[in-house]
Amino acid sequence: MSEFLSNKDGYRVAVAGATGAVGQVMLEILEERKFPVSELVPLASHRSAGSRVKFKGEELVVQDLEQFDPAGIDIALFSAGGGTSLDHAPRFAEAGCYVIDNSSAWRMHEDVALVVPEVNPEALEMARHNRIIANPNCSTIQMVVALKPLHDAVPIKRVVVSTYQAVSGAGSRAIEELATQTRNLLNGKEVKVDVLPARIAFNVVPHIDVFLDDGYTREEQKMILETQKIMNSGILVTATTVRVPVFYGHSEAVNVTFSAPMNAEHARDLLAAADGIAVVDDPAGEDYPMPMEAGGTDAVWVGRIRDDASCANSLHLWVVADNVRKGAALNAVQIAELLVR
Ligand code: A2P
Repeated sequence: MSEFLSNKDGYRVAVAGATGAVGQVMLEILEERKFPVSELVPLASHRSAGSRVKFKGEELVVQDLEQFDPAGIDIALFSAGGGTSLDHAPRFAEAGCYVIDNSSAWRMHEDVALVVPEVNPEALEMARHNRIIANPNCSTIQMVVALKPLHDAVPIKRVVVSTYQAVSGAGSRAIEELATQTRNLLNGKEVKVDVLPARIAFNVVPHIDVFLDDGYTREEQKMILETQKIMNSGILVTATTVRVPVFYGHSEAVNVTFSAPMNAEHARDLLAAADGIAVVDDPAGEDYPMPMEAGGTDAVWVGRIRDDASCANSLHLWVVADNVRKGAALNAVQIAELLVR
């Protein structure tokens, strides 16, 4: 892959949505991974323009995205909602900046690359023309990281996935909503439902994003279509996406049917050798991945790997990752790293 951005000691990086749940972690990860930043520009709506965010020990003043002139910015990481991306990403791209967009706005656009660096880095080539690169849905990212090494060994025919998704996937107001509802219920106070579609404290809600005419939700549709686009394959996927009262870390029960024999032992070896995956799978020691431990880490954790006795050539996997890191901010920064490599 020839380089996208001319080799420099440092790049001017903008983060749109810098005050949000994902944007803040984008700043942390740029710093943690020593991304070569010469200037960091935090952007948000007019509501938080003038507030401050921390980057490399400095307090930076948040600017209003709407008023901001992107001339001279090399890379912009967007995590400020789909409407904001539709309105502003083209303006940044036209100014010569590469936009890595965490919203769903551009993901299924046929000219836009949808990239998970461990899975399809080659797709980034598409971004040379339009300079917009989409970061996939959080649940899709962790699943395709786990599927890729298996699919490379024996092509996958079908995937059935059920998710157990943390509230942080719905942003900082949803995190606050779970905390407030939990506190209020424990104190015998009235509970309000505001951000998520139903009470999330002490509950499980099989409804993420809006319902479509076919009975699936848009979150489920995203997992189906994005998996096929990223893996460049007609893999059949069906999904049930569910919100659970967990702050950070999505979990997924994934049932995979292969086009030829594959067994749990072989799958465990393939997964253990793959980039970005940590296998924790010890039934005897009662050890398996959980969001409690995966939160704050970078890996996609896989466990409960077992043959599906009910169906030929099929396996079960349990896949857990920090949805805000690998599911969003980390994946976006990894894409930025490919641009400057
Ligand atoms: P703001 O703090 O000004 O509302 P989260 O996903 O945690 O809810 O965060 C959403 C992020 O997107 C926040 O940083 C928020 O900024 C930003 N944002 C939301 N709407 C806009 C907009 N119209 N223009 C720019 N940034 C926006």
